[in-house]
Amino acid sequence: MDWNGKRQVGRRHPADAVPVAAIAAPSGRNAGDTGPLIEMEAVSKSFGEVVALQDFRVRITPGELVTVVGPSGCGKSTLFNILAGLEEPDPQSILRYRGRGCRATELLGEVSFMPQRDLLLPWRSVIDNAILALEIEGVPRREARETARRMLPEFGLAGFGEQYPHQLSGGMRQRVALMRTFLFKRDLMLLDEPFGALDALTRAMMQRWLLDLWQKHRRTVLFITHDVDEALFLGDRVLVMSARPGRVKLEQEVALERPRLPEVVTSPEFVALKKILLEAIEEESLKSFAVRSP
Ligand SMILES: Nc1ncnc2c1ncn2[C@@H]1O[C@H](COP(=O)(O)OP(=O)(O)O)[C@@H](O)[C@H]1O
Ligand SMILES: [Mg+2]
Repeated sequence: MDWNGKRQVGRRHPADAVPVAAIAAPSGRNAGDTGPLIEMEAVSKSFGEVVALQDFRVRITPGELVTVVGPSGCGKSTLFNILAGLEEPDPQSILRYRGRGCRATELLGEVSFMPQRDLLLPWRSVIDNAILALEIEGVPRREARETARRMLPEFGLAGFGEQYPHQLSGGMRQRVALMRTFLFKRDLMLLDEPFGALDALTRAMMQRWLLDLWQKHRRTVLFITHDVDEALFLGDRVLVMSARPGRVKLEQEVALERPRLPEVVTSPEFVALKKILLEAIEEESLKSFAVRSP
């Protein structure tokens, strides 16, 4: 039983419904509620000739905030589409949710996902944009609105519930999109470059705010960014992806204590980690550039 009382995914399926590789027993310690929330092993995804992901593996523990960096086009959004249940990986890929093999499509609706281009609907107010996923889920509109209204102050949107997206700043629009993702209460939250379009100051503010929120709500978060400082400032771990086909090139623990203050970015520990990450990323960026050049 998960904490939402929602149906569990990852339950065992008739063998004819699941590729054999996908129902492999969980490895290592007994999974379930104490083990990894999600595991990917040998996950590949091709689009015709294009191999977006190859042999991707990762293990995410409940409550972790894991950041993902990698050159553009290396398969980051593809990774999230699989975890959100929007794309099925290639056969033989192994995906486990709470220790049990599952298909990606079973994760649909089990994971809250803020896609890279998360557009707010211009004709809906802040509140009505925020409750979109709840409404689709069948929560009565009145009840959903009430829940959203109570969350406005926490998202820095007090008094803005009835405003429309064009009346808001970029940072506020991102907070509405994040509020929508938070309101869709799921154990795993996927955020695809949520602060990518913001100016540096707003971005720094949003990062601190997200950390506060995460520490309070203790969700498991996977966060894609192309900003190494952001990846380090936020993450418990940073995954550096290789150039396409994307796999995990480097998995870097970030042992900086929390709560993290803005000054941490100038500490020797931070700078040392940044150097490691930058080297790994630069190598991959050069590769992806070379691949693209005629
Ligand atoms: N639905 C799709 N159909 C065909 N190719 C796709 C599709 N989605 C992604 N790709 C290709 O897969 C590769 C990885 O894309 P993507 O996951 O969006 O990368 P990233 O988010 O790291 O920039 C790219 O070459 C992209 O063109
Ligand atoms: Mg992307």
